[in-house]
Amino acid sequence: MRTVLIANPKGGSGKTTLATNLAGYFAKRGRHVVLSDMDRQRSATAWLERRPDALPLIHAQDGRGKHPDSLSADWTIIDSPAGLHGEKLSDVVKRADWVIVPIQPSAFDIGATEVFLEILREEKAVRKERTFVATIGMRVDTRTRSAATLAAYLEQTGFPVQANLRGAQIYVQSAEQGASLFDMRPSLVARDLQEWAPLLHWLTNADRNAK
Ligand SMILES: Nc1ncnc2c1ncn2[C@@H]1O[C@H](COP(=O)(O)OP(=O)(O)OP(=O)(O)O)[C@@H](O)[C@H]1O
Ligand SMILES: [Mg+2]
Repeated sequence: MRTVLIANPKGGSGKTTLATNLAGYFAKRGRHVVLSDMDRQRSATAWLERRPDALPLIHAQDGRGKHPDSLSADWTIIDSPAGLHGEKLSDVVKRADWVIVPIQPSAFDIGATEVFLEILREEKAVRKERTFVATIGMRVDTRTRSAATLAAYLEQTGFPVQANLRGAQIYVQSAEQGASLFDMRPSLVARDLQEWAPLLHWLTNADRNAK
């Protein structure tokens, strides 16, 4: 079983969007996926409740304890709440094989994420290379100066930037339907799937080489 934690204490950075789409991707590939929701707002859980039966199955977990489904899962995707810190953060980082941090291109988002990346760097599991951290540029418009500022910032964090995802209504529309981009008509998401490719390649390749 592989566990991916999506985390950034900054509210609205794109955690649930990333978590639900990643769960949708692995489900589409026929994997046994558990989506674990640590957030009391229950956005990921509500997304699962909206998910039509006709789409590939994703199992729910409330994020607190073990659930029988998680034991046989190929992938557990954990959506975490804004403000996650302290022991709760350390515990879940320890459980994860990967931590993915979505960051939007703004000074507020970069400022709020900077401290978090420092904390992650100090986590024992990260220092011992049992847990790997990557960043994702979220709602990036590559034509803007703020995108260049974010790219320069991410470059110097020392953590790999595994994707830059654009802002697009298809994320909002698919979420409304309990769907991921990978469940949508390919012609609607061709460009977005290309943007996801490096992240998915990284996770699935690392999975093959993993411990
Ligand atoms: N790439 C994107 N394109 C368009 N809209 C996006 C994109 N990513 C996120 N959003 C929208 O931005 C808002 C915040 O995203 P999301 O809920 O995923 O963030 P979050 O980090 O989970 O927030 P919270 O900290 O409140 O849990 C949502 O309305 C979501 O639909
Ligand atoms: Mg969320």
